Amino acid sequence: MSSEDEMVVTPWKVAGKVDYEKLIRQFGTQPLTKEILEKLKKYAGSLHYLIRREFFFCHRDFDWILNLYEKGEKFVLYTGRGPSGPVHLGHLLPWIFTKHLQDVFGAKLYFQMTDDEKFLLHHNFTIEKSVGYTYDNALDVIAIGFDKKKTKIISDVKNIKALYEISIKIAKHVNFSVVRAVFGFEESTNIGLIFFPAVQAAPCFLESVLTGKKVPCLIPAAIDQDPYWRVTRDVAPKLGFYKPAQIHSKFLPGLGKGGKMSASQPETCIFTTDPPEVAEKKVFNAFTGGQPTAEEQRRLGGNPEVCTVYQYMFYLFEEDDKKVRELWENCKSGRIICGECKSILAKKVKDFLVEHQRRREKARNIVDEYFLEI
Ligand code: TRP
Repeated sequence: MSSEDEMVVTPWKVAGKVDYEKLIRQFGTQPLTKEILEKLKKYAGSLHYLIRREFFFCHRDFDWILNLYEKGEKFVLYTGRGPSGPVHLGHLLPWIFTKHLQDVFGAKLYFQMTDDEKFLLHHNFTIEKSVGYTYDNALDVIAIGFDKKKTKIISDVKNIKALYEISIKIAKHVNFSVVRAVFGFEESTNIGLIFFPAVQAAPCFLESVLTGKKVPCLIPAAIDQDPYWRVTRDVAPKLGFYKPAQIHSKFLPGLGKGGKMSASQPETCIFTTDPPEVAEKKVFNAFTGGQPTAEEQRRLGGNPEVCTVYQYMFYLFEEDDKKVRELWENCKSGRIICGECKSILAKKVKDFLVEHQRRREKARNIVDEYFLEI
């Protein structure tokens, strides 16, 4: 294996080919079992496609949260975003599922914008820039359709008053040696980042603090955030809170070869603010599993398993299981060639962006109402 392929999954870096089974073992999370999914189905009616297609694939204590709910104890949801740039389609997937959970369970949501983290992490990044992205990215969050009455967005920089007491209580129980081991901090790491895990932990307990009751918390998030929750779960009982439960997602691959996606290569991801024609071009330039010529494709069939266009259909744009299976079979058998498939995806992407951008613009009028008042 070349070093380029080596899997790295940390809160600040995801690289190489990601082996999700291995991550379950490495991180010590639990796979989503049939029993858990049956229980979820009881409330959700049918299973969300992001669960059916295993985009959300493992958890901690999700069964426990569902059991409490069954007994009448409501939980809060908590998720977030590091506002370091514009939002792309991959970011939306966990939010789409979080919205589904909010609808199904009538749950309140805290959404943290870690504008402090991104300021501390990146060179040449000003506070104004990260706070600016907080408000910009909040438009995308609101466009997903979260219930205004049940959703509070937190800017760490602007709303720190709400989090500070909880953060220092957490911080007092976490040694440097622990965060060094968990996050790979070094002697040269700035002390803001060393404290930061306490700030990301705080929203897990915010509802409990504000209501004076122990409220369970469920975090839908990509698996790279798990190190934060490991530390948070250790501290929770010491402060008299429930350990936060989690449900973890995979990452949406980019449009480049090998599913690479990076903000420094904007052609490999579709931003929510891309003009639809620009997004269309990105789709037409995407890496596929196709054969070099149409003739060979007809004869040999394509390879949807490595195709980024197929992945986008699978995870984002074709919720109908029957249609997505047909697409797979038509590709495998050479009945459909890449140009046709790209056209289908491009049309869906364009329609999606037009609608998302409309909702995003509308959100400008109400964005302030979503932010925490504290
Ligand atoms: N650290 C996350 C990021 O860089 C942002 C974040 C904060 C988050 N709290 C969260 C993500 C809770 C998921 C769940 O993207």
